[in-house]
Amino acid sequence: MIRKAVIPAAGFGTRVLPMTKAVPKEMLPIVDKPSIQYIVEECVKSGITDILIITSRGKETIENHFDKSPELERALSKPGKEDVLQQVQGISDLANIYYLRQKEAKGLGHAILCAKDFTGDEPFMVLYPDDVIFGEKPVALQLIEAYNEFGKACVGIKAVSQEAISKYSSLKIENIRDNIYTVTDMIEKPAKGQEFSLYSILGRCLLTADIYPILENTKPGAGGEIQLTDAMAVMAREGKMNGVDFVGKRYDMGNKLGVMMANVEQAVKHDEIGEDFKAYLKEFVKNI
Ligand code: UTP
Repeated sequence: MIRKAVIPAAGFGTRVLPMTKAVPKEMLPIVDKPSIQYIVEECVKSGITDILIITSRGKETIENHFDKSPELERALSKPGKEDVLQQVQGISDLANIYYLRQKEAKGLGHAILCAKDFTGDEPFMVLYPDDVIFGEKPVALQLIEAYNEFGKACVGIKAVSQEAISKYSSLKIENIRDNIYTVTDMIEKPAKGQEFSLYSILGRCLLTADIYPILENTKPGAGGEIQLTDAMAVMAREGKMNGVDFVGKRYDMGNKLGVMMANVEQAVKHDEIGEDFKAYLKEFVKNI
């Protein structure tokens, strides 16, 4: 059973500046919810009860968002506000959420190493908070099911374009069946010609404690950061890693275009404003 998840949220979010100067990237909204709330909800829907969010200086609003807000709740305790009160209270009851500061942004691998005492020997999910993925079955659960069947660490994978692969990781894979693969090697941010394939890890990894001793010996890699991919590559080469070509619509909330696409596409489907927004959008595009 997978009970624990780690959400690394200590990065600078430089691709979404100036917005992310004082507001954490993870608090950028998709319509009316910060992206990190979608991530926590995905954990809860996947059966995860304990979540560690790795933060850094200036990210206090994340903690406030998942905390109780007695003043606000008091102000909303009046007729006609029941729905919004319930929403506000629901956020603080989602899961057991813990926080740990990564004192320096030394890379995603270093951020995960900070979670060692929290996860202990248990396997755990890692969810990148800027990859918000909508699916009928949560992607974390898709990975958990693969872990339960094969007993191996596994990563969420997707084919990306030739232009995009150099910004992500590239995987060497062999099909096991349907959308499940063995991952035998990987490389972070491959230069042209170094790619194994156009398959990349996007947003979700289910790791075992085997990762920690490897991370402790991982030297800074691409971009001078301690890369999780470099440590996972060791596990892949040792035959300890699978991949799930997950089903779901992913939005990259780590860049400006991704943020806008997520907002437009989800606003059209939104219960409260969907119909009005669709009507507005149809008029608006006539003049583009
Ligand atoms: P990214 O590289 O996408 O995030 O790392 P970033 O560094 O915030 O973004 P840019 O490139 O400056 O725009 C993937 C995830 O890992 C976290 C980030 O917060 C993000 O969710 N991360 C990255 C850490 O927690 N610590 C780090 O040292 C680096």
